[in-house]
Amino acid sequence: MIEQTPRRLRYAMVGGGQGAFIGAVHRHAIALDGLAVLAAGAFSSTPERALDSGRALGIPDRHNHPSWQRLLEAELKRAPAERVDAVVIVTPTDSHFPIAQAFTEAGFNVVCDKPLVHNGEQAEALVAAVAARGTVFGVTYNYTGYPLVRQAREMVRSGALGAIRKVVVEYNQGWLATALESTGNKQAGWRTDPARSGIAGALGDIGSHAENLVATVTGLEIEELVADLGALVPGRMLDDDASLLLRFKGGARGVLVASQINAGMENDLRLRIAGEAGTLEWRQEEPNRLGHFRSDGPAQIWTRGSPWLGEAARRATRLPSGHPEGFIEAFANLYRGIFADIGARQAGLIADPLDADYPRVEDGARGVHFLECAVASAASRGWRSLRSE
Ligand SMILES: NC(=O)c1ccc[n+]([C@@H]2O[C@H](COP(=O)([O-])OP(=O)(O)OC[C@H]3O[C@@H](n4cnc5c(N)ncnc54)[C@H](O)[C@@H]3O)[C@@H](O)[C@H]2O)c1
Repeated sequence: MIEQTPRRLRYAMVGGGQGAFIGAVHRHAIALDGLAVLAAGAFSSTPERALDSGRALGIPDRHNHPSWQRLLEAELKRAPAERVDAVVIVTPTDSHFPIAQAFTEAGFNVVCDKPLVHNGEQAEALVAAVAARGTVFGVTYNYTGYPLVRQAREMVRSGALGAIRKVVVEYNQGWLATALESTGNKQAGWRTDPARSGIAGALGDIGSHAENLVATVTGLEIEELVADLGALVPGRMLDDDASLLLRFKGGARGVLVASQINAGMENDLRLRIAGEAGTLEWRQEEPNRLGHFRSDGPAQIWTRGSPWLGEAARRATRLPSGHPEGFIEAFANLYRGIFADIGARQAGLIADPLDADYPRVEDGARGVHFLECAVASAASRGWRSLRSE
């Protein structure tokens, strides 16, 4: 198991106020292992709601701020040892870059939700800032925290499937099958607005997870892609349905679907990886099972918590097999990795890679280049090389 850091870390949160979605999930996930406590924040875009939200979370007034700029100012006034150990950014995408850049440049460790930022220039500026400051920067591609996703990664790496030939990843949701944004739904509102969401709709919101899942599990690099992006709900300004063909370096082929208009679907993220000797299949809605189809024996179902799983999956597991673990535990696994890395660096050590197992700023930046490439491909109706973006 991952060793506890020597003291409880302290974190601040930007966003995640009353009425917000994912901020609370981050707080629950962090609370699961007790490695860090919520110590400060600027929880909302409006000052009153920010302060109300912080009070409701039990944040003392001196650590509860009306804006992220005031949070940063207040933290910088403290002695370095008194500052928070990390800042978690859970605002809509348009504000990720200024907030992440300001805290990184001021020397803070940062965790930011996906997609990282709006364009490749911002992404590279952040990568450079993190490298210059030597800080920790995690991006919450939370699906990579599931034990059986880590098992799949280990099986691919160990050669259990042979050379990978084909990867199919789909993320199907139905919640935007109607014009929900016109009803005042907050989450639908900013996600379908290019000024706030960026250049991609469904592809940015959930296709970004699909891209990261493929890259993490297979280690394959997309060389070229062709994308068909559409808005199937009349009047919508960004794609709500995306179908992509992928060509990876080394010759493997892939298909990526990200769609939010599959009426009735919930969070149907599924991954199939076919190699020369076998195929793996995993579904987010049944995350405690991994299918392994082999050409040299009967098909197998690997289950979370079983003794034959590899080290990465074992470390990501809290409960005995058969007691379901889910979304929050997977999210918490990323935070374990992030806090292990922060704790190690604070102690002047280098964390074991299996302890510090989390997506980094470079993964977020690659995701942004992927989105730009797909949007350019859809506009030109042709194949695009990822390296030329
Ligand atoms: N990893 C995942 O599974 C997952 C799931 C959902 C959302 N997300 C990502 O998380 C982020 C937030 O999404 P959400 O659905 O929770 O959005 P939301 O609209 O529910 O919440 C956003 C929160 O940020 C606050 N906010 C906005 N601008 C702010 C600012 N300048 N300063 C302080 N607070 C500000 C809002 O007031 C609100 O409290 C997005 O980047 C989204 O893509 C990730």
